[in-house]
Amino acid sequence: MRIPSTVASPPYLSLFLLLLLPSLAQSSDDDLIDKICKATPFCDLCEASLRPLAPSPSDPKSLATAMANVVLGNITDTLGYIQSLVKHTHEPAAERALAQCAELYRPVVKFNIPQAIEAMQRGEFGFATYVLGDAEKQTDSCQKGISSAGVDDESSVAITARNKLVKNLCDVAISVIKCLMQGP
Ligand SMILES: *[C@@H]1O[C@H](CO)[C@@H](O)[C@H](O)[C@H]1NC(C)=O
Repeated sequence: MRIPSTVASPPYLSLFLLLLLPSLAQSSDDDLIDKICKATPFCDLCEASLRPLAPSPSDPKSLATAMANVVLGNITDTLGYIQSLVKHTHEPAAERALAQCAELYRPVVKFNIPQAIEAMQRGEFGFATYVLGDAEKQTDSCQKGISSAGVDDESSVAITARNKLVKNLCDVAISVIKCLMQGP
């Protein structure tokens, strides 16, 4: 009887498995980010937010938490930018619009999103989606104020871009959390 050569030479088989296994483990992490990001409305933005993180979040809950932290980082950054502009604006309408944006974003940065991140650790994902949905509404209100102040300078273009990024990040985060609530 002829024995197939792979069975006859187990050392090759185990060498093959040894080489294959680490790449399998790696690709299953990538697949989770892929799978979750593909279900969001801005897949590229989702990938750009989650891929660079080290250590790479490897389960749905840490992915959702990481995404909420990216939202928090971006709103915090936007609030800082707005606050620095308020000080240097002499146009009353622009100053009012900027001050209003700062008022809208401050509680989101200081309380709401940090609370949502804490709530997620306790498994309260519905609350987190509510808070992120609310944060998204604040970006809309801020943007309306900026647009209707009729200031058409470099800084309003920059704020508009940041508001859009934050809004899209909120969309991504909400959709990552919804994916988590539905289970694997
Ligand atoms: C804002 O979000 C982008 C896209 O995910 C990310 O690359 C960047 O680091 C974030 N910025 C801050 C300040 O968190």
